[in-house]
Amino acid sequence: MEKALDSKKLGRVFSGIQPSGSQVHIGNYLGAMRRFVRLSKLSETIVCIVDLHALTSVEKREELEKNSQSLAAAYLAIGLDPEEVVIFRQSDVPAVCELSWYLACQFPLGLLERAHSFKDARAKNESVNAGRMFYPILMAADILLYRGNSVPVGADQKQHLEMTREIAQRFNHRFGQVFPIPEPLIEDATGVIPGLDGRKMSKSYDNYIGLFEAPKRVRKKIMKIVTDSKAVEEAKDPDECHVFALYKLFAGEDECEALAERYRAGGMGYGEAKQELFEAMEREIAPLRESYESWISRPDDLRDILKAGAGRARVIAEETMVQVRDAIGVGAVL
Ligand code: TYM
Repeated sequence: MEKALDSKKLGRVFSGIQPSGSQVHIGNYLGAMRRFVRLSKLSETIVCIVDLHALTSVEKREELEKNSQSLAAAYLAIGLDPEEVVIFRQSDVPAVCELSWYLACQFPLGLLERAHSFKDARAKNESVNAGRMFYPILMAADILLYRGNSVPVGADQKQHLEMTREIAQRFNHRFGQVFPIPEPLIEDATGVIPGLDGRKMSKSYDNYIGLFEAPKRVRKKIMKIVTDSKAVEEAKDPDECHVFALYKLFAGEDECEALAERYRAGGMGYGEAKQELFEAMEREIAPLRESYESWISRPDDLRDILKAGAGRARVIAEETMVQVRDAIGVGAVL
């Protein structure tokens, strides 16, 4: 999809990832991060480490700090160029909290109660902090503060994007045209990356492959991906197989056609397909893993990059907030 987009149509690209685990997984990479790199070559791009969102689940200070550092290293390792792309930590620009409040005062409570993430947490009887409920407002504030036009995300963020659009429309209707209405960029091919058990890959299902996990562990995990129980000699359907679904996202067209043919012909066990997947993944990820290790060993450089990113983000944020405060009638000198 993104091949067909150009800078004019994309406008400013904005997206974020939560530093809620010690490292990102393949679902984050394929559904979002790898696309950030491609989009950043086409249009102005801002990527955020949304540590304020992660506070809804991460309790320990050291953990939050370490996860944020790891995510910064991951952004750089996958090829985001800090000279071109604004890479910053959400909490370094506190205006997002101020804007959240203004948006909260426009946000119907019923809309928040219908949010999937909140309803899921409730259904699981998890202790739900108020931040969990407020989460979509903070996300809307992120996108609107930086006046993002295009927001690349996985399918699980669709509802949050719909809420953001709704709130931007309400705000503009009430106070005048302040915010662009953001477009979600969700791809069919990468919207829902399956995990080892076939459900959406997710930290909370513990069915994930870490992006920078050691190759041995990655291979072990790949060998655990669930498949049907067809015998080696039987013909198999590549389009019904999670292994092939992942393979397609790492291999070239010819390779995919060749493997699909082996599925259909019979005589190939799933173990062989898994080995092919492992090798295709390694080809792409091994150099990124190396780069990640190098970045993570340079915390001072990471800090400098985040600091510079926050400086650039703050300028955009302040431009927005001047308009917002004026539109609402708060904060001006009386
Ligand atoms: P988070 O941190 O849960 O996930 C980060 C990105 O990875 C995508 N993703 C997946 N895509 C496909 N298949 C999967 N299995 C998969 N798992 C995760 C997510 O869709 C997401 O794009 N609320 C957001 C973070 C956020 C944000 C924002 C995003 C905060 N503010 C502003 C965009 C714009 C979240 O929790 O993502």
